[in-house]
This record gives sequence, C-alpha cells and structure tokens, in this order.
Amino acid sequence: MQRVITKTGKDKKVRNFYPGLFADELESAPEGAGIVQVFSSEQVFLGVGYYDPRSRVAVRVYRFDEGPLDKRFFLQRFERAQKKRAQLDPFHRLVHAEADGLPGLVVDRFGGVLVVQVRNRAMEALRETWLPALIEAVAPVGIYERSDMDSRRQEGLPERVGILYGEVPPVLEVNEDGLVFPIPLLLAQKTGYYLDQRENRRRLEQMLKPGERVLDVYSYVGAFALRAARKGAYALAVDKDLEALAVLDRVASMQGLRVDIRQGDALEVLENLARSKTPPFQHVLLDPPTLVKKPEELPRVKRLLVDLLRPALRLLDREGWLWLSSCAYYLGVDALLEVTRRASADEGRRLRVHAIHHNPPDHPWSLHVPESLYLKTVLFQDDPL
Ligand SMILES: C[S@@+](CC[C@H](N)C(=O)[O-])C[C@H]1O[C@@H](n2cnc3c(N)ncnc32)[C@H](O)[C@@H]1O
Repeated sequence: MQRVITKTGKDKKVRNFYPGLFADELESAPEGAGIVQVFSSEQVFLGVGYYDPRSRVAVRVYRFDEGPLDKRFFLQRFERAQKKRAQLDPFHRLVHAEADGLPGLVVDRFGGVLVVQVRNRAMEALRETWLPALIEAVAPVGIYERSDMDSRRQEGLPERVGILYGEVPPVLEVNEDGLVFPIPLLLAQKTGYYLDQRENRRRLEQMLKPGERVLDVYSYVGAFALRAARKGAYALAVDKDLEALAVLDRVASMQGLRVDIRQGDALEVLENLARSKTPPFQHVLLDPPTLVKKPEELPRVKRLLVDLLRPALRLLDREGWLWLSSCAYYLGVDALLEVTRRASADEGRRLRVHAIHHNPPDHPWSLHVPESLYLKTVLFQDDPL
C-alpha cells in the first residue's frame, strides 16, 4: 500500500479521530490517487485512507487501525450504523458521513428504499466496494442516488442521479408518525425529506393546543404545519418551492387536514403578513436552508436573519414561541442568539431562551468532527415583564 506522511504536528488531527488532511498538511504523498496508509513524520502508523490530490481534502481517513478498505470493512461500518439506529422506526438517516466513520457518504432510509449521496472523490472511487456491502448489510428493496450537491461540484465530480439498485418507486412514501408524505423523488430537495427535524416536530405537536395558530416559514412539505393541523391548530405554511407545497396540499387533503399555504419568498411573505391585520401566532417557526457555506458570508446572512426576525416577532403573540433553526455549520447558536437579540431590541420584545436542540441521534454529532454538529434550533418564548 502507498503511504502519505503528515507534517510534524499534523498527526495530532488523525490521532484524535479527525478524518481529513489537507494537501499542505502532508510532508510526502504518492503521485496519483489511491488507498494509502497514513504515517506521522516520526513514521508512526496513524490510519488507512484514500488520497486524491484533486480532492478539496487530500486524504480522507477511513480507519484508524491497520487493515484493508475492503467489502468486509464497509460491511462492519454499515452494521455498526444500523445497530446505533436499531430502536428507531425505518425512516431515519442510516449513515451520517464522518460521524459514522464514512466520510463522504450519506444514506437516508425510507422504509425499504435507501437514498444515498456520495459527496467526495474517495467514496466515489470506492463505490464498487461499499455498494455491495450496503446491499448486503441492509437488504433494501432499492437504492436511489441523489449525488447532486455543491460539495460534489467542489470535488470536481459530475452529478449522479438515478436508480443504483433494485426497485425504486418514482414516488417515495415517507411515514412520519402516521403522516404519510408522497415525495416525487426527481423533484424533491436533497434526499427527499428533512428527517433531521422530526424530534422538533414532535416537540411542537406535544406543546400545541387546539385553536392555537402556527406560522411555519420555510415549510418544505409542511411536516411542522401538518402536525399542527392534526393537533387542531390553525397552520399557515410558507415556502418558495411549488412542488413541495403541492405535496403538502396532497397530504392535507388525504388526511382531511387544513393548512393555509403562501408560496413565495419568506422575507416578503413575512413583511406582508406583519403589515396585514393577521391575528398573532402562538408559534412562529423559521427553518431556513443552509444560508452560509463560507465564514465570509456570515455578516450578510446575519443581516438577513435580523430582517426576517423583525416581522416574525411582530407576528408573534404575547408569550408566544419562536423556533429558530440553522442547518449551517458556520451559523451557530451564538449567532442565532445575537441576531434574535438584535431583532428583539428593534421590536421592543423581551425573550427568554427556553431550549436549544441539536441534530437528533440518527444524525450523530461526533466530538472529533466539529462539522458534524450542524443543526441548531433555539426555542425562545416571548417573556414580557
Ligand atoms: C431546511 S428546509 C425546511 C425543512 C422543513 N422545515 C421541514 O421540516 O421539512 C428549507 C426550505 O426553505 C425553502 N426556501 C429556500 N429559500 C427560500 C426563500 N427565499 N423563501 C421561502 N422559502 C425558501 C426551501 O424550498 C426549503 O423547503
């Protein structure tokens, strides 16, 4: 096996289970891409990974002991990932990349169908090894690939979208606690459904009382709004994605639920609602897409969030609840607190922080990989004196 050698001091990263090394952290590396053993500058073995000089991260480390990256290795990783989710129903994230020891691979499980994303050159190169292991470990009815995300483009890889294995229906049925969402795979965002907000949706449903009003901004297929309607609340969902809103509408009529829908830009809709005579909402949810992909974008995005929060606060009832989420690694809890403080000052509102929630356990947060903590939801309550 070929070798890469880290620069002095850079071995600490790998020793501490961080699975990536940049090209400028290497003292020496082979000519071309391939499986490598990783050694420190003192020639101490650190792990086994995949080296590709064309990748954003030159070495991806897959194991921290000696051994091959073969089918058996991947089988063990998938079995371990399954074991961690054994208590969950069959709709969950089965593989959360680095946090499951598989940098560059995401697998969402929707009953018998798996949707996979291959995000880096290493996992792309090792496809013929891990795919048979995934099939053997999970025995799915079908596997669909949605490798069309930004990170793939940054790796210089082409998009890959389509059936990888077995039978995949064109419309995926996602069952979340009894609400069944028919998601057309080709039109859907990401892997089709935001499994990561399920626990917050359960929390909202538990808190709600019949007759309360819920404003679900950035609703996607309305999984929050539909739960609210199921609890007897009035729900208004806002999103710019017409296809997603069409799914919401279909689920509502199938289940005999009523959800009002506004298609459009969140900021414009919020400002219009705040200007209108709409009665206040007891719950306002803001769950925007990944707004920040680089740290330099943070100041602009914070200003946008303050602009969103001002009308959101005007629409919030006295003692109402504000749910503010960020799925961007660079937009952390401190930034969410700061923008909300700025907007509340503008609106003369006093808030208390009731709870801060993070990615659920099927989207594990590895201590060693800070980026794996990506989802933050701050639940504020209006707290007048
Ligand atoms: C993180 S997802 C929301 C997930 C959703 N809350 C759920 O529980 O399934 C972000 C959503 O924001 C929507 N979106 C993105 N930009 C938008 C904009 N400017 N105005 C309104 N919606 C937008 C996307 O279509 C997507 O559905």
